[in-house]
Parts: sequence; structure tokens; C-alpha cells
Amino acid sequence: MTKKKLKIRYDRIIILVAIIIAIFVGIFGITRDIKLKNTNEYKLEKIGYKKDDVKIILESTKEKELKTILKREYHEAIPKLLKEQYFQFDQLERYLSYIDSKEKIKESVTTEYAVSIVNANADYEFYTNTEKADTKKDLLLLVNKHYALEKDYKPEDLVPCSAIYAYDNNSLREEAYSAFIRLFNAAKKEGYTIVINSSYRDYEWQDNLYQGYKRTNGKKFADEYAAHAGHSEHQTGLAIDVSSFSKPMANFEETEEFTWMSKNAHKYGFILRYPKGEENEAITGYKYESWHYRYVGIDTATEIYEKGITFDEYYDYYLK
Ligand code: DAL
Ligand code: ZN
Repeated sequence: MTKKKLKIRYDRIIILVAIIIAIFVGIFGITRDIKLKNTNEYKLEKIGYKKDDVKIILESTKEKELKTILKREYHEAIPKLLKEQYFQFDQLERYLSYIDSKEKIKESVTTEYAVSIVNANADYEFYTNTEKADTKKDLLLLVNKHYALEKDYKPEDLVPCSAIYAYDNNSLREEAYSAFIRLFNAAKKEGYTIVINSSYRDYEWQDNLYQGYKRTNGKKFADEYAAHAGHSEHQTGLAIDVSSFSKPMANFEETEEFTWMSKNAHKYGFILRYPKGEENEAITGYKYESWHYRYVGIDTATEIYEKGITFDEYYDYYLK
């Protein structure tokens, strides 16, 4: 009798223990599952990102940025964009819209290209929703098809250019002019003569020039080579169109002086402002101009030269 009772108790204890273990295992399992489902890895994978993408996203985003990605639907370009050198998180939706808009018309663009275009505002139509150019940026002021100068903007330190360096009727801001003189003398020492054809142009002058281009060559051509009044860098007093004696300005690229400028302009603070290539032209909004240089100072010119980007991109990423 006692033996039987004891046996029954053992059975019960074993069952009880088993139940307790089962409960613990269950709780542990559920907790683990909840914990797993709460991880960012899990959430990103659930949205559709592959393991490698998840790694990139987690490595390249701050908390707030990650939240934004977790809130939006999957986009395969996001991990690639995050790795781009000039990527800016606050522009994410614009990069994606630009990529999608191109895909819609069966054009595929690289994420690098999308970043360049958006950073330079070239995903917006030119001359629409334009903003005031920030003249407080002084020598680093950006004027383009998105940023305009007031009609009456005129730099205060314009100085007339001597006939030694320029054709008639040229003037530049003081610092740009003295930098050009140094450039001119350095080129001269090596046997090259680089002359200023055009420099500061006021609003009316630019308007006449643009309208003239339009009358003679049509709107498309005019827009590819001349700025609307208020949108020309020439109004800043920091831009120059140069040529040599051997060729007309439009053929400057074919001269030895151009080769010299390509290697040395930045050492004197000047950059080639409208560089060659489809991508550059889409960014600046102008066809390649081998003759148009912009003064930005030696440090910035050297940085832009070394990075191989346009001033529009540089401005957005480093100066805005
Ligand atoms: N040719 C340049 C773009 C200007 O008109 O300012
Ligand atoms: Zn020019």
C-alpha cells in the first residue's frame, strides 16, 4: 500500500516536472521569437532585403535613417545608394524617384549618376522653381539654371582688365583678376598666351547675348550655350571666357594653351566650369565649353580638380 502510494507520487512528480520544463521551454521559445522579430535584421529581411543588403544598411545608417528605411517599401537601389560617395540621406526619395522615372522610360541609370544629377538639382527642370543665388558665399557663389542673381546685382570690387590680358571692355572681381594675371604670366613663361575675351557681363548684356543666340540659332542652341539673364556666372565677375591667338574661342580645345589650362588652371584658382561628357552636360545644363573658366580660389579649385566633379555637385555636397 505505501509502496503504491509512493509510486503514484513519483509519477505525478515526473509529470509535473515535465509540464514545468515544457512551460519554460515554451516561454523561452516565444521570448526568443519575439526578440528575433524585433531585430532590425529580421525586419529588413521581411521587407525584402537580402543578407548582404541588410549588412550594408545597418553599417551605413544612423538610427533615424534606419527607421526611415524600415518604414518604406523595398527598393533594390537603396543599398547601392548608401555606398555612393556623395550620397546624402535627406535626398533619398529624390534619388529613388529619379531612378524610377528613368526606369519607366526604359533607361537604366547607375546610382552614382542618380546621386550626381540630384545633388546638382538636375532632376528638376531648368529655370523652374529657381532660387536666389547666395551672394554671401562670396567667391564660392553658385549661379546656374537653378540659382539666379538679382537684376541689379553687381560685384563691388570689379576692376577693369588691362589690354595686356584682355580684349576691350572686360572687368573682373579684384581677386579673380590678380589670380588671372598670375596665371597669364605663368603661361607666358612657358610660351603660351591666354587672353580674356569676355568676363563680367551685367544682366542686360547677358539678356542681349542670350536673345541674340536665340534669334540666330534657335532656342535649343541658345539654351545649350548661353544663360538666361540673371543665371549667368558672368554676372558674378568671377567667370572668364579665354582664347589663344591661334584659334577662335570656340576651338580653344584644339590649342596648346588649352592643354596648359587643363593642367594648370586650378593652381591659380580657376576651374573648367562646363566640362565635357553627357553626364556633366546633364548636370551643368550646358554643352561643353572649353573656354569658360570660373574663379573659386586655389584650395577649392584644386579639390574640384582632384575630385573630378562639377562645381554644381561640389557646391551641393560641401558648401550649401
Ligand atoms: N556661356 C555661359 C553658360 C553663360 O552664358 O553664362
Ligand atoms: Zn563664359
